[in-house]
Amino acid sequence: MNSVRPAAVIILAAGEGTRMKSSTPKVLHPIGGLPLLGHAIRAARATAAEHVEVVVRHQRDLVVEYCSSVDPALVVADQDEVKGTGRAVECGLAALPADLVGTVLVTSGDVPLIEGQTLVDLANAHAASGAAVTVVTAEVADPTGYGRVVRGADGGVERIVEQKDASEAERSIREINSGIWGFDAAVLRDALEQVGTDNAQGEKYLTDVLALARAAGHRVGAHRIDDIWQTEGVNDRVQLAKLGRVLNDRVCEKWMRAGVTIVDPATTWIDTDVTIGQDARILPGTQLLGATTIGSGAVIGPEVTLIDTEVGEEAEVERAKANLAVIGAGATVGPYSYLRPGTVLGAKGRIGGFVETKNAQIGEGAKVPHLTYAGDVEIGPGANIGAGTIFANYDGVAKHRSRIGKDSFVGSHTVVISPVDVADGAYVAAGSALTQDVNPGEIAVARAKQRNVPGWVARARPGTRTAAAAEAAAAAGTRHTPSDGDDSDTEGER
Ligand code: UD1
Ligand code: CA
Repeated sequence: MNSVRPAAVIILAAGEGTRMKSSTPKVLHPIGGLPLLGHAIRAARATAAEHVEVVVRHQRDLVVEYCSSVDPALVVADQDEVKGTGRAVECGLAALPADLVGTVLVTSGDVPLIEGQTLVDLANAHAASGAAVTVVTAEVADPTGYGRVVRGADGGVERIVEQKDASEAERSIREINSGIWGFDAAVLRDALEQVGTDNAQGEKYLTDVLALARAAGHRVGAHRIDDIWQTEGVNDRVQLAKLGRVLNDRVCEKWMRAGVTIVDPATTWIDTDVTIGQDARILPGTQLLGATTIGSGAVIGPEVTLIDTEVGEEAEVERAKANLAVIGAGATVGPYSYLRPGTVLGAKGRIGGFVETKNAQIGEGAKVPHLTYAGDVEIGPGANIGAGTIFANYDGVAKHRSRIGKDSFVGSHTVVISPVDVADGAYVAAGSALTQDVNPGEIAVARAKQRNVPGWVARARPGTRTAAAAEAAAAAGTRHTPSDGDDSDTEGER
C-alpha cells in the first residue's frame, strides 16, 4: 500500500509543564542531545505531511525561537487563554488553510520516543479503516494519569475518559490514550466546535471529539501499539531521565547491530545524531555528544567526552574531553587531554597526557606528548613539542599566534611567547623563553647561561651534610671538566 501523506501534523506544545519545576519550557528539555520537541518534529517530518505545525503558548517565544532555528518551514499557532488539548488543536486548525482536507495527525511535544514510522503506520491504518477518528492506544501496567479507552460490548471504542473524570471501574482500564491521533480534518473541525468544558479540569478536551464523531455517525477506531515507550510522555524530571535512558539503550543497540562494540551500554551515552563506523570500540564511561562522528576501527574510552568532534579511522582516544575538534586517522589522544574548539590533530599525530589545546592545528605525525598548553598555534607535520612547553598566546589584552615548522623540535619546558615563527627544520633549546623567530637549521637558545661558583657550599653552608659530602668528594678527586658554556647540545628530552 502506498503511504498516505497527511495534510498536516499538529504538535501540541502549549502546556505549562509545571511538574518540571523549570525556567526552561518542558518541551525544550533535551534527551539524546535533542529537545523533546525536536524528537516530535522529526517524527512528524517523517510522514512527509504538507504542513507540520507546533501549537505554543507557555513561554512561546523560547519555543518559537527553537522551532525556527531547526525548521523554518514549521507553522506556529498560538493557543489563546482557553485551556485544553481540544482548544490547542482548534487554534492549530485556525492557523492552517481554511480549506484543508484529508488526514490530520495530532501528536504531543512531550512524547519523544514516538517514531516517524509509527506515525506513517497510523496515517495508513487510519485511511485504510475509513475511520474519521483513530486514536493510538497502548496497554500499560500502570495507567495512572492517562485517559482511559472505554470500549463497548462490540469491542469498538466508545469514548475516552480522563483520570480525573473516571469512575472507579473506568480507572481500572489499562488501555490508555497515547495522545496521538489521526483525524479527518472536516470531522475534527465540526466536532471541536461542539466540545465544551464541562469536566473536572474545566478544559476543552480533545478526547471528547471521539464520542462526538461517533454520535454523528462516523466510524472511530483505535490503533494499538505494543511498544509502550513510544507513547510515554514526560511530565517531570523522573520521566525525563527514564525516557532518556530508554532512548540511549535504543541508540546503543542500533550501533551494536551496525557492528560497533560497546563494552558497557549502561555507562555509554550516545546522542541521536552521532555516527560511528564499523568495528569502532567504545569503552565504559564514554559520552559521544552532538554531531560527533567516529571513524571505523577507532577506540574511544574509557572516560571520554566528545562534543561535535570528528575522529578518524583507527584513532585512539582515552580519558579525554574534546569539543569541536578533529582527531585524524590513526592519531592518539590521552590519557587526560583537553581539546578545545579549533583543535585539528593530523593523521598519526599525538596529543598526550595533561595537554590542553585550543585553536591548534597539529600536522600529520606531529607530537605534543606531555604537559603542554598549545593555544593559537600551527605545529607542522613531524614536529615534536617537548614536555612542559607552554604557548603563551595571551598578553592580557590580545591573543597571538605562533608557528612551529615541519619536523622542528622544541625542547622541554619552553615558553613560546607568541607571536613567534619557528621555521621548518629548526630547534629550540630546552628551558627557553622564546620571543624571536628562528630560521631553518638554527637552534634558538633563549635562557641565561649557567654559572658555577666554586667553594660556595663551604662558605655559605658550613657544617652541613652537603658541605661534608663536598669535602669528601673533593678529597676523592671527583671533578667535572669546566664547561665551555656551549649550550648547543642541550635541546632537551624527546
Ligand atoms: C492528555 C490526554 C490523555 C492522554 C495523555 C497522554 C486530553 C484531554 N488528555 O492528557 O487522554 O492519556 O495526554 O499523554 O487530551 N497542551 C496544549 N494546550 C493545552 C494543554 C495541553 O498544547 O491547553 C499540550 C501539552 O503541551 C502537551 C499535550 O498537549 O504536549 C498533552 O497535555 P497534558 O496536559 O500533558 O495532557 P495530559 O493530562 O497528559
Ligand atoms: Ca502529558
